Amino acid sequence: MALRDRLQQSESSSDEPDLISHYRDRLLEEVDLDELARLKPAQRRARLERILSSLLSADGPVLASRDRSVLIQRVVDDALGLGVLEPLLADQSITEIMVNGPRDIFVERLGRVQRVATTFASEEQLYQTIDRIVSTVNRRVDESSPMVDARLPTGERVNVIIPPLALDGPSLTIRRFPQPYRLAELVDKGSLDVHAATLLGACVRARFNIMISGGTGTGKTTFLNALSGLIPAHERIVTIEDAAELSLQQEHVVRLESRPANVEGTGQVTIRDLVRNSLRMRPDRIVVGEVRGGETLDMLQAMNTGHEGSLATVHANSAFDALGRLETLASMSELELPVATIRDQVNSAIDLVIHLERGADGTRRVSEVAALMSSRRADYDLVPLRTFRQDPIGPDRHVTGTWVGSSLPQVLRDRLLRAGETVVVPEGGAA
Ligand SMILES: Nc1ncnc2c1ncn2[C@@H]1O[C@H](COP(=O)(O)OP(=O)(O)OP(=O)(O)O)[C@@H](O)[C@H]1O
Ligand SMILES: [Mg+2]
Repeated sequence: MALRDRLQQSESSSDEPDLISHYRDRLLEEVDLDELARLKPAQRRARLERILSSLLSADGPVLASRDRSVLIQRVVDDALGLGVLEPLLADQSITEIMVNGPRDIFVERLGRVQRVATTFASEEQLYQTIDRIVSTVNRRVDESSPMVDARLPTGERVNVIIPPLALDGPSLTIRRFPQPYRLAELVDKGSLDVHAATLLGACVRARFNIMISGGTGTGKTTFLNALSGLIPAHERIVTIEDAAELSLQQEHVVRLESRPANVEGTGQVTIRDLVRNSLRMRPDRIVVGEVRGGETLDMLQAMNTGHEGSLATVHANSAFDALGRLETLASMSELELPVATIRDQVNSAIDLVIHLERGADGTRRVSEVAALMSSRRADYDLVPLRTFRQDPIGPDRHVTGTWVGSSLPQVLRDRLLRAGETVVVPEGGAA
């Protein structure tokens, strides 16, 4: 029987001798782990492949060369850490890996979710992989703590949830570290038009407070990173995130990351603690990865009290919805403020909302840039400045459309002018 078939069969039958774990153990006995740790990932793989190849030549089964390469790859993948997931992680076109139990693995590639043929040999092997991941962040996953957020050494964000909460077996979601696009690159990719980019550049330099809104995976963090790239180099930036994903190019950046409670349930540091702490760090700009709770009130207050030019993202379905969401989140603070007071805070704090959407073809783009023109306790008046008007979608599911703009309200124009910025937003369907 060909090795490939044997390997495939060993996935379904635990009676088969487990060639992979046998050779993985042999390999790990042979290598000098300290030396291995000093190598770059690509060199590490090459080194393991060389050692394994000589082990197989010395005492391995006689194999066709293709079967031999399959065995080498799978053993090295296993030894390197995440086993069958390694080739998926190595594939740069994959942006997300979703494991729903040992047999069902899906990936997102170029914005589309597809199933891959890869499977784990058993649930136990999947648990081993999960253990390797979470042990690097000093956490453990078991029935008493069945949900864990972790990170791979290369920065990827990982979420693990296991039974009894996950009904069909352990579930693992790995999000590739978002690529740090510059705003100009996002324009080239068609995520926003050049006029919107020019306008946003002026607004960032003029210290507008800006919220980026959108659903899960619409590119909020990526956009926040690109927008933060426009903050002038001499300003002191404090970034606050749950899992540090931003990578700013400026020199003067202090990066803060929240911390979950440890196994004993203590030591938690929340985004809110960090937002409060950041105010004592003399920031010129506060950049909050995502507001999800009571920290929203602290952030709004900071924006209203001398920390203009702050940037943050919020999960919402439209630019307008983002404002309601900020109200709800701000009311989660222990301060019981009346809705009208919170609305006052939102109206005074927020200048712009940028809403992002993910099209049917997987492309991410800005669907709206809107200015919040209302003040104090008035109902929200959100004026669209630049909107993507999508064409009806054709059979190829490719998203096309036109960018339309409205003239900048005089108040904003004056504010930009006072900051030395002149921008003209073309009206109508200018591309
Ligand atoms: N404009 C874009 N063009 C192409 N790919 C993009 C764009 N924006 C984001 N992506 C990719 O989409 C994925 C999700 O992006 P990102 O993490 O920024 O989204 P998010 O909205 O912050 O997600 P979450 O809701 O999980 O925080 C990443 O792989 C990122 O590289
Ligand atoms: Mg994000």
